[in-house]
Amino acid sequence: MTARFRFSDSINLIKNIRTTGTITPSSKNLVRRLLSPINFAEARCIVELGPGNGCVTRSLLKRMGEECVLVCLEVNNEFVAQLNCVEDSRLRVYNACASSLRQILDELGIDKVDYVVSSLPLALIDHDIVESILVEVDSNLKEGGRFLQYQYSLANYSDMKPFFRDVKLKFTLRNMPPAFVYECTK
Ligand SMILES: C[S@@+](CC[C@H](N)C(=O)[O-])C[C@H]1O[C@@H](n2cnc3c(N)ncnc32)[C@H](O)[C@@H]1O
Repeated sequence: MTARFRFSDSINLIKNIRTTGTITPSSKNLVRRLLSPINFAEARCIVELGPGNGCVTRSLLKRMGEECVLVCLEVNNEFVAQLNCVEDSRLRVYNACASSLRQILDELGIDKVDYVVSSLPLALIDHDIVESILVEVDSNLKEGGRFLQYQYSLANYSDMKPFFRDVKLKFTLRNMPPAFVYECTK
């Protein structure tokens, strides 16, 4: 279940640049940085927003325990079809906008989640929708839960501050383009 670079993934990213915000999947280094705050031994539910081709998804599944569930919300049909080919009983994939998180958690009978990992291109999403996504993330995270997001600029730093008691920033040059990683604690 290794994440391979496929030319078709970049084609899909470029074709849908307005909703993907990138031309190439995240590097291994960025994925490692993004997931480094996760305590995989204790996590029971992780949500992934904007999984795309599944490069973060696969890394999560590789490290998650048997009792942990991974809920993915992705708007792009082609990526959803690709993710549906991943055979893993812990994975739930939804063709849905990140702002409908509560509705999906209700369908699954899940109250709160431990982590929300996001690759959403927040800088390209309307401000009102970003706000509603952050409200969803905040209201569905357990106390002490984390929201992990990367971004190629600091455009949404000030949007996150009011929602979380702590927002830490890291930066990696080892991605195309270089990226900031936010670690937000509820
Ligand atoms: C930058 S790509 C990330 C792909 C992959 N996770 C990675 O890190 O390479 C962003 C993804 O977010 C998806 N996306 C954009 N807006 C969304 C939304 N409102 N809800 C769910 N997914 C969304 C896009 O379709 C795209 O697959």
